[in-house]
Amino acid sequence: MIKINVSDLKPGMVLADNVGSLRSGAILVSKGTVLNKKTIRKIYSQGIKYVMVHDTNSNSKEVLENNFVIKYEILSDKMENVFKGIRCGKKIILTDVSEELDDLIVEIIQNNNILGRIRQLEEKDDYTFNHSLNVSMLATMIGKWLNYSDKHIKQLALTGLFHDIGKLKVPDNIINKPGKLTGKEFEIIKKHPIYSFNILSETVGISKNVLIGVLQHHEREDGSGYPQGIKGDKIHEYAKIIAVCDVYDALTSDRKYKNKSSPFYAAEILRDQSFGVLNPKITRIFLDKVSNFYVGCKVLLSNGEKGEVIYIYPQSPTKTIVKLGDKYINFLEPQSISIVDIIE
Ligand SMILES: [Fe+2]
Repeated sequence: MIKINVSDLKPGMVLADNVGSLRSGAILVSKGTVLNKKTIRKIYSQGIKYVMVHDTNSNSKEVLENNFVIKYEILSDKMENVFKGIRCGKKIILTDVSEELDDLIVEIIQNNNILGRIRQLEEKDDYTFNHSLNVSMLATMIGKWLNYSDKHIKQLALTGLFHDIGKLKVPDNIINKPGKLTGKEFEIIKKHPIYSFNILSETVGISKNVLIGVLQHHEREDGSGYPQGIKGDKIHEYAKIIAVCDVYDALTSDRKYKNKSSPFYAAEILRDQSFGVLNPKITRIFLDKVSNFYVGCKVLLSNGEKGEVIYIYPQSPTKTIVKLGDKYINFLEPQSISIVDIIE
């Protein structure tokens, strides 16, 4: 553990002690937090001079987390430039992000705990940007669970990174519209996979699998998707994987005009959609892994109480048993309350 001047803090460092407000003493950032630019700014803005961080030479779990955050932030900065370039009509240069993506994939595959970290990472104001990085990381995990080769995991990660890049060609007032879209506006939105495909087609070195995955990421098993309305086997597996990650991340993310849903509610939606809309095999693998991860997490219930997930039914990954003091709530049975959020 070392004492460090706040001006020397770097993303990826891990707090070894709670950081409290100088005025009220309330905890601002808790011990064990992997710092990102946002949390560093928060500490800095309070006028705090020194904090305790873990020594990065140690071989602890925190150092592994540290590597992940650093690599994420490097890729995030590179991708921000790619997004800016697309808005100005520039082409994507794959080598600009390729090495950084390789590094992040290694971290994700070795450390596994992507679901726990995804909401702790610094988010930029641009939803499409954050969403693209999240979907890429979730898709990397699914590729690993499906025993994809390194080459195909990389292609899948690229499909996630670029699947919505065509949204940069859709007017902002439509993309960010808080209310319901008109029929005409939705028709414009529905073109974004084609725009993504067109932008990527001009990219040197991009695989055909990535192009098809991007083009088809809104296609659905029953033909209810867009832009082509194709069904089942006609849809590329990359597109089916991105679809699952896309729905999950959209549901569990905070938007300006929509509160996020709990991962358990998102899991229920995914499970419902796995009967005909999303691919059942991919959805099942995803839900099984998600549920394993949430055992032991603290949750907020709709009545305001806090409990701990102690069991998730293997055959029904959206159903849990939550311990609440000395009581147990079994969500396999109908309950008047529900889980609204994961708190730690
Ligand atoms: Fe999309």
